[in-house]
Amino acid sequence: MALVAGVDSSTQSCKIVVRDAETGALLRSGSAKHPDGTSVDPKHWWTAFAEAAAAAGGLADVAALSVGGQQHGMVALDAQGNVVRDALLWNDTRSAQAAEDLIVELGEGDRSRGAQAWADAVGSVLVASLTITKLRWLRDAEPENAARVAAVALPHDWLSWRIAGYGPEGESPLGPQLDKLFTDASDASGTGYYDAQSGEYRLDLLRLAFGRDDVVLPRVIGATESGATAHADVAGDGTALIGPGAGDNAGAAIGLGMQPGDIAISIGTSGVVSAVAPQRTQDGSGAINGFADCTGNALMLAVTLNAAQVLDAARSVLDADFGKLADLALAAPVGSDGLVLVPYLQGERTPNRPNASGTLHGIRLKNMTQAHVARAYIEGMLCGLADGMDALRSLGVPVERVMLIGGAAQSPAVQEIAPQIFGLPISIPEPGEYVADGAARQAAWVLASAAAGAPAAQPAWATKMSKTLAADPKPVVREQYAAVRDLV
Ligand code: XUL
Repeated sequence: MALVAGVDSSTQSCKIVVRDAETGALLRSGSAKHPDGTSVDPKHWWTAFAEAAAAAGGLADVAALSVGGQQHGMVALDAQGNVVRDALLWNDTRSAQAAEDLIVELGEGDRSRGAQAWADAVGSVLVASLTITKLRWLRDAEPENAARVAAVALPHDWLSWRIAGYGPEGESPLGPQLDKLFTDASDASGTGYYDAQSGEYRLDLLRLAFGRDDVVLPRVIGATESGATAHADVAGDGTALIGPGAGDNAGAAIGLGMQPGDIAISIGTSGVVSAVAPQRTQDGSGAINGFADCTGNALMLAVTLNAAQVLDAARSVLDADFGKLADLALAAPVGSDGLVLVPYLQGERTPNRPNASGTLHGIRLKNMTQAHVARAYIEGMLCGLADGMDALRSLGVPVERVMLIGGAAQSPAVQEIAPQIFGLPISIPEPGEYVADGAARQAAWVLASAAAGAPAAQPAWATKMSKTLAADPKPVVREQYAAVRDLV
């Protein structure tokens, strides 16, 4: 029996699953935490990977592995393979002004022309999350660090490179061979300097942002190709192919087996509404990012910065665990008697309000109860995601099946309230690590293709739904949210 491993190097932790390549059956798993913060030294991802691999019983017996990872993070390396500074993550908003400047510059002074030009060129209007804005920030805020940059990678590319044995001089068996960095189209498509439609890096845009383009960018390899083999330090004596990997949202899409017509709503550190489609959108409004998936389709996303952490904030305000939060929320009426949370607790990305803060509107004696507050937090967070789904629909994306994933999807309150707000039945897949599972599935695909000497069919692993939730739509919740959303 051949085994494969899938890695999810996410914002908060590293998770690894080991599965049977043929059937997809889960055999072992492990995880380890990442440090908090929006700016992190990548060495922590490497040590967490080693810890998670040990917790998963080691990787000596796997024949292939792939790494999924948080998108967009800027991992800037010097010629010796060291990071020039901590990586700036997708949820770091310090480059918000850089994003605005680059939009106006590409539009030659006209913001809306610039926004459309970025959407046409790379699929997305720039926001602080995208790597290219972080490079502009680095150029201006830390010119000495910028001058040392010899290569720019993303979190998943960097981890795959370390697994292959490359890394800083003296700290890695194979040393800093920057030209061995590789990535995949899904993650490259979130940089802001890669056009997934042509399959080319846009060095002109990199130059516009960073002032130079003489940096190594990871080679973008095909969906079923292997970029390297894992070093013996990771994989022991056996040969383990390393697949192209993926941005985490594309990883989840392949993990769920998403097809056109499927929508996934993920409530994790980020809130994501995503759909796969044969063609990417070029949404000049900026609500929808037109990325690539990792099978050759487009992956369209609306991403919010305020998702599971809004529920954490509610728990802290109410001194409640998850169970109590759900009980409280379900004890309050639909619409929380007019109490509305606009959940921009960390600024927001969709809509683009990096400097906004959250607001609680409609406070009255009647709704100043713990139950109303609990429900308002959940309703507000879900309304932000429902706006994202509307944006997808307005671009003509078909909505046939909606799946809810991420830790918060297990909350009974989220499960009851979500179909009321989205106005649709919602399926809950069996709890799982869908990004790590998607990476494992990609690894199985790469392994089968290597054995066949040509791209093979995707492994037919089943995704099981645990339940489908239906409810009468309650449009009042979104109406009262829409009435105050723009007052912030
Ligand atoms: C997607 C995005 C987030 C991160 C979270 O554009 O920024 O979903 O990938 O890991």
